[in-house]
Amino acid sequence: MKAARTRHVFSNKGTQWAISGVIYVAFFFFFIWYHDVRGKPFTLFTTEKCTAIASVYCLALALALGPLSRFWSNLGRLLPYRRTLGLTAAFMSVPHVILVFIYLPWRFPEKYSPNYPLSWFVDHWFTVLMGLLGLALFLILAVYSYPRGVRKLGKHRWMILQKLAYLAMVALALHLLSMGKIPKNWIAWIETRNKPLPPGSFPTMMACVAPLLLKIVDLVVHGDSLGTEPDSPDAGEGT
Ligand code: HEM
Repeated sequence: MKAARTRHVFSNKGTQWAISGVIYVAFFFFFIWYHDVRGKPFTLFTTEKCTAIASVYCLALALALGPLSRFWSNLGRLLPYRRTLGLTAAFMSVPHVILVFIYLPWRFPEKYSPNYPLSWFVDHWFTVLMGLLGLALFLILAVYSYPRGVRKLGKHRWMILQKLAYLAMVALALHLLSMGKIPKNWIAWIETRNKPLPPGSFPTMMACVAPLLLKIVDLVVHGDSLGTEPDSPDAGEGT
């Protein structure tokens, strides 16, 4: 197989963190506005949703940057943002999980715990399992995203580990799909057009699928980056 060019950083400049934070916040408020237009005003419920949606978009951007930089080499200078966007996505998915377990059963007892505590989570075990898998992969990737991570694993195994970010995205796509929002919300919206915008889970699913398709095209055109050596863990971009 061909070996695609790639480049990794193990630390980032403050501005890169700040810009990634601004991108996260921009997605968060865009989807708060989006839900407001769809008749769901700014509450803790929309906050719970939009923290998760903004995380998915940050992960999507992080995953897309590698393939895009191989198609357009001047995008290569954005590669350090893969780490900051990925870590932002990982950490900002934690409030979603906390709110889902604590706030939703309290706010919607008829849906989340009508028969016994947390019954929705037991009935929708596959959705929960995929969410847990996404969260676990996020946390593993975050722990190994520091210089000691690559030193501990060795370069080749560390690069294989990075591929788990795609598995995390697949898990999140299944997390969304298994909630049954396609028949309940998407088809209902297409048939009735009762709201000015499609359900929020629709653009979010596009954000899951697009970087996965882009990666497939990248693999076909450029081959896999596992054939190349990552940069030295000490070759950081700042602090
Ligand atoms: C233990 C782990 C998780 C559990 C139990 C869980 C549970 C849930 C539940 C119950 C919902 C539906 C609530 C709603 O309608 O707003 C939901 C939605 C969602 N979750 Fe998770 N989740 C988990 C992890 C994650 C992770 C790590 C992500 C990654 C960012 C994520 C992304 C999403 C997204 C994007 C939605 C859709 C929001 C929407 O448009 O309706 N989830 N999750």
